[in-house]
Amino acid sequence: MVPRALANPLRPAILAAARSPRVKSAITHAPGTRSLVTRFVAGETRAEALTVARALLDSGRMVSLDHLGEDTTDLAQARATVDEYRGLLAELGDLPQAHAPAGRTRRLEVSVKLSALGQSLPSGGGAVALEHAHQLCAAAQEAGVWITVDAEDHTTTDSTLSIVTELRAEYPWLGAVLQAYLRRTEGDCRNLSGTGSRIRLCKGAYREPESVAFQSRAEVDASYLRCLEVLMDGRGYPMVASHDPAMVAAAAASARRVARGSDEYEHQMLYGIRDVEQARLADAGVQMRVYLPYGRQWYGYFMRRLAERPANLTFFLRSLATRG
Ligand code: FDA
Repeated sequence: MVPRALANPLRPAILAAARSPRVKSAITHAPGTRSLVTRFVAGETRAEALTVARALLDSGRMVSLDHLGEDTTDLAQARATVDEYRGLLAELGDLPQAHAPAGRTRRLEVSVKLSALGQSLPSGGGAVALEHAHQLCAAAQEAGVWITVDAEDHTTTDSTLSIVTELRAEYPWLGAVLQAYLRRTEGDCRNLSGTGSRIRLCKGAYREPESVAFQSRAEVDASYLRCLEVLMDGRGYPMVASHDPAMVAAAAASARRVARGSDEYEHQMLYGIRDVEQARLADAGVQMRVYLPYGRQWYGYFMRRLAERPANLTFFLRSLATRG
């Protein structure tokens, strides 16, 4: 068994290698990559993603759809992403679940990366991303769907949280993601756990320097547990995004401690990861949302999934060797 503190010693190396164009080309063109990508990605098209979303909804789970794409440095590409999300929101708004009562949340949600909306443009990226996110909030409101803004690498955190804060004045349901591996996050949880806030707490998936982020598994887990307590103690709606049985159990215990009802927080997991556990929790009456990515730009997302779990990487390498 891999010791807990060394659960993924290769993670920084994989995330660093993932940025190399040569590695990207080798992986995207390797025979067999596609079939592995489909373990984590619902398909390349919106229609494929909606088919999977319907099946998950029928199984009692909620969904958050994500159109894959990030680090866009081209305005036309950012606009195309906005158009895709508008189409997605309109189709989600036609589903009966968009209008069915769902307690303190919505069964249908989309997740958005601001870097896909223009935040990384060479100049004025923050303003472009704000304008695009504003357009999507208006479309989401119309459709009866909520949005959560994903967290990306730490250089974007201030800009992302300030855009979310600005938009929440008009769209108070807008959610944000906080990453427990960042040293700042416990403080961000305190600042953002007020009435009506929706915070998705995850461990964090990017390669970050020690100056801003905890590096060891034990430190990240301890930070997650501290942040979870802050959110559960707060007046917002915590979204517990983790596959880790320890974090899942801690959320239930913490909710009991503060007498939160089962509709006053939710669990979230990624599509294709611990599917049986997702279904078990949903069957047990726990609110469970599945993050459902789709689209052609799956590379960055796929590499983060390989990096966070040695078993995923081993499976991938074995499969390549077998096919080779
Ligand atoms: P971790 O990877 O530490 O695993 C802990 C334990 O969970 C394992 O030891 C094992 O027991 C179990 N486990 C994990 N994977 C398993 C598997 N495949 N099969 C069986 N057991 C498994 N990140 C980010 O930086 N920005 C973001 O916006 C988001 N958004 C996001 C949304 C949602 C809904 C989720 C679930 C996650 C994210 N993430 C994210 C990713 C997140 O930061 C993190 O990288 C992954 O969730 C992995 O961390 P875990 O908490 O799941 O545990």
